[in-house]
Amino acid sequence: MRILIVYTTRYGTTEKVAGLVKNLFEERNHEVKVAHVEENPSPVNYDLVVMGAPVYRDGPHWDLMEWIERHKGELEDVPKAFFLVAMHLAGSVFMGKLHGGIAYAQPLIEAFEVPPFYGTLIGGEIDPEKMSDEDRRKMRRFYAVLGEKLEKKSLFSEKDVEAFVRRTLLYYDWFGRHFRRGEVEKTKNFDFMEKVRELERTLG
Ligand SMILES: Cc1cc2nc3c(=O)[nH]c(=O)nc-3n(C[C@H](O)[C@H](O)[C@H](O)COP(=O)(O)O)c2cc1C
Repeated sequence: MRILIVYTTRYGTTEKVAGLVKNLFEERNHEVKVAHVEENPSPVNYDLVVMGAPVYRDGPHWDLMEWIERHKGELEDVPKAFFLVAMHLAGSVFMGKLHGGIAYAQPLIEAFEVPPFYGTLIGGEIDPEKMSDEDRRKMRRFYAVLGEKLEKKSLFSEKDVEAFVRRTLLYYDWFGRHFRRGEVEKTKNFDFMEKVRELERTLG
């Protein structure tokens, strides 16, 4: 199928993930276009759109949100998946509310009438030496307030990216392909666990 990967990045981790996702789709014989949001790609005429963004200040990078806003109408007609690159993967409960982790994806769900059929977090990277002076200063202060030190750290794992690609294609086949305007109703009675149990039985 024809796949568009649209992404934004500040320090390159999300670009690296987008490139890997592209290769993994191509290995599975799909036709892929990768575009930075600055190229303002059109999501029309694709079978699947994969959106990728890093998390900054507790949310998906605003440049991706702007691209979504610009193509909102067209995006309702195409199945969508996403990956968010972040450091706070587990998330926590903070002042009685879900914070970080998959809660970072909330704006990506709320942006659409027909939401993405699948999405997940991918581990990011922090390198104080590569950051702008402003980012380094802000991050140092933030960590200092918490009594921690800003240090180079990587949570990136190729295996997680492979799992994202494998599951995106599997879920696309199971229900994702119907996650578009006028068709999503077909998935109303889809029971994920029943599907898993049915396939488990075929494994014997
Ligand atoms: C100024 C700044 C703010 C950040 N805010 C968050 C955040 O709120 N939550 C989080 O999980 N990671 C946060 N990160 C970590 C980034 O998501 C991580 O470094 C990611 O790999 C950046 O991807 P990029 O290289 O594609 O820009 C922040 C990083 C910086 C430099």
